[in-house]
Amino acid sequence: MAREYIWEVPVRVTHWVNVITILALSITGLYIGDPFAQGADEHSMLMGKMRFIHFLCAYIFIASLIVRVYWWFVGNKYARLDQFIPVSGERWKNLIDTALFYGFMKKDLPHSPGHTGLAGLTYFFLMILFVFEIMTGFALYSQSHAGGAIWTLLGGWMLPVLGQGMIRFLHHIIMWLIIVFVIIHVYISVHNQLIEKNGLVWSIFNGYKNFQDSHHH
Ligand code: HEM
Ligand code: HEM
Repeated sequence: MAREYIWEVPVRVTHWVNVITILALSITGLYIGDPFAQGADEHSMLMGKMRFIHFLCAYIFIASLIVRVYWWFVGNKYARLDQFIPVSGERWKNLIDTALFYGFMKKDLPHSPGHTGLAGLTYFFLMILFVFEIMTGFALYSQSHAGGAIWTLLGGWMLPVLGQGMIRFLHHIIMWLIIVFVIIHVYISVHNQLIEKNGLVWSIFNGYKNFQDSHHH
């Protein structure tokens, strides 16, 4: 067994900050859209608190994404942008071989110390979904927050184009798409760890993966 350090601190921290804030954003968002609980009395301001948590987590989530995008350019080779957008022949081959593996058409996963080609590209599409969620979020935000041009720029311009009903709908749909991603993502992570015995799930906590020596170079 060879142990290799793959995920640097910012990759791991942003991962878990995203997990926690997305969980809080989904719970508070569902409440905002369809209040499922009542405050103890008329002074409890439950909706106000939910909205406050939603907006606070939105800002933390955005900050985390900015840090992670910065790390595309300064991080180690497993964290860089070219691990997400396949530009080299090697990454394309890895992507296709991974897809064939998941389609039961290939026996082994290609050796990928960092993200597989398929995982990287999936995370890139996920990041695009995050950006749309943020833009539709700021479109809704611009309705209730003074500040003018900045909220218009970040998403408010979509209000007259799509209408607020469509924007709420998109904000919901993207949440559900993210939730579908998470279910599959957690399933694959746990499944790969059990099959490959590579410590994959631990890697996103401690940074290290284990490889059979025959693969290591
Ligand atoms: C809201 C929930 C989650 C989201 C949005 C999410 C998203 C992501 C993203 C974007 C990456 C790429 C990391 C990077 O390079 O920056 C990643 C990696 C990873 N995540 Fe998650 N994740 C979530 C929850 C979880 C959970 C609960 C687990 C635990 C089983 C997990 C396990 C992993 C592992 C093991 C990796 C590295 C896998 C690889 O090499 O591709 N994730 N996740
Ligand atoms: C993963 C991230 C997010 C999820 C899952 C999420 C989810 C939701 C949901 C389900 C709603 C209810 C929509 C409705 O029926 O009116 C909502 C409302 C809202 N969200 Fe998000 N949201 C996220 C990120 C954001 C971000 C980044 C912002 C940016 C500021 C934001 C701002 C808002 C606003 C302003 C509302 C409407 C609040 C109101 O009408 O009082 N959200 N969100």
